[in-house]
Amino acid sequence: MASVLGLAACGGGGAGQASQAPAASGGGKKQVEVFSWWTGPGEADGLQAMRKIFEEKNPDYTFFDAAVAGGSGDKAKALLQSKLQANTPPDTFQGHAGAELQGYIKAGNLEDLTPLYDELKLKDVFPAQLVEQISVDGKIYSVPVNIHRSNVLWFNPGVLKEAGITAAPKTIEEFIADLGKVKAKGKIPLSIGSEWTVTHLLESVLLGTLGADAYNALFKPGADWNGPQVTTALNNFAKIMEYAGDPQDDWQPAAKQVADGQAAFNIMGDWAYGYFHNPPQGGLGKKSKTDFDWAPSPGTEGTYLWLSDSFTLPKGAKNRDGALAWLKVAASKEGQDAFNPKKGSIPARKDADQSLYTDYLADALKDWSTNKLAGSIQHGVSVNQPWLAAINEAVGLYIGSKDVKALQQGLADAATANAQ
Ligand code: GAL
Repeated sequence: MASVLGLAACGGGGAGQASQAPAASGGGKKQVEVFSWWTGPGEADGLQAMRKIFEEKNPDYTFFDAAVAGGSGDKAKALLQSKLQANTPPDTFQGHAGAELQGYIKAGNLEDLTPLYDELKLKDVFPAQLVEQISVDGKIYSVPVNIHRSNVLWFNPGVLKEAGITAAPKTIEEFIADLGKVKAKGKIPLSIGSEWTVTHLLESVLLGTLGADAYNALFKPGADWNGPQVTTALNNFAKIMEYAGDPQDDWQPAAKQVADGQAAFNIMGDWAYGYFHNPPQGGLGKKSKTDFDWAPSPGTEGTYLWLSDSFTLPKGAKNRDGALAWLKVAASKEGQDAFNPKKGSIPARKDADQSLYTDYLADALKDWSTNKLAGSIQHGVSVNQPWLAAINEAVGLYIGSKDVKALQQGLADAATANAQ
């Protein structure tokens, strides 16, 4: 356990102390341990904005930032699992709405938050389809703070121009042709990060090849992962991956290659917007439409490949009252309107102040209200954690072997073993 805790390399915004277990601190203030993976440039800004409101409203509590570094939370979730098993949960933790959260609920890790929903009338402010993703048997188990979009193609307009590309590719075929044009100019066609960013890319290629209905059907019991449509998608994926640059450490350095004009394209969630756009320190302070631009990932226009970050109340939280105080801020209009413009997401609440969501975020708000929905794989909506682990394993093996057949078999086996 000690060595696992040692892995908890915590990042910015006061997280540095997090490798020690928090306790009631001196001065009579009680610490609220908030567990997430938002330590890196861009994403930590959103958390800090919400923390500020929490501290203003709750002078009796100290915010304890227990964030564990690593995009997409793979490292954080592994540590969280050991904390839950040891019955030493944080006071509140971030979990994705959908299959991931259902896993925690079914394991009995979470308290029912229906009383909080009743008290704050939250059922009226969150979209019904989102509440469904965080409920079991009519009980609601988390507070969603945002909606993120996974299927975004980020690109550098200058690099595209140099390569003679006049508009963002709309289809996968166009995309592959454009990647070739960039390669011919000697720039990195597509930047990628650590392994999870490749699974992130894969979900966009599956959606872009299959369309929303066939994509969503992949997560129903008995779905055909061995069929010809998935083969086509994986062949597309293989062609696209031929144009990938050297894997970067995480999503930020990969996104930065686009903003700096070293790479043409990156497929990443819209947390990249916060990173590109936020002023230096947290973000890169880049100029929208000049240094970076965006479009739905190829073939996916009209579909929002969504995910949602939500906060929970684990059973056995040491500072339950403090956790509830945090959840109240996370649920509030004020909290969400402080968090989301920095995080690069749109609010989960339907009544947020729309004027705060400009530029990319205005597009996101519009598309969220008009598009079809598909659930992210990598970010917990469509598959639970064991299923995702099996998918990541198949993708990891593919990166080494480049064997499309084995990838398809690995994905099919993952579905057979885990679909419920
Ligand atoms: C996602 C999470 C986002 C963002 C991203 C990159 O799983 O939902 O909020 O943090 O990982 O780390």
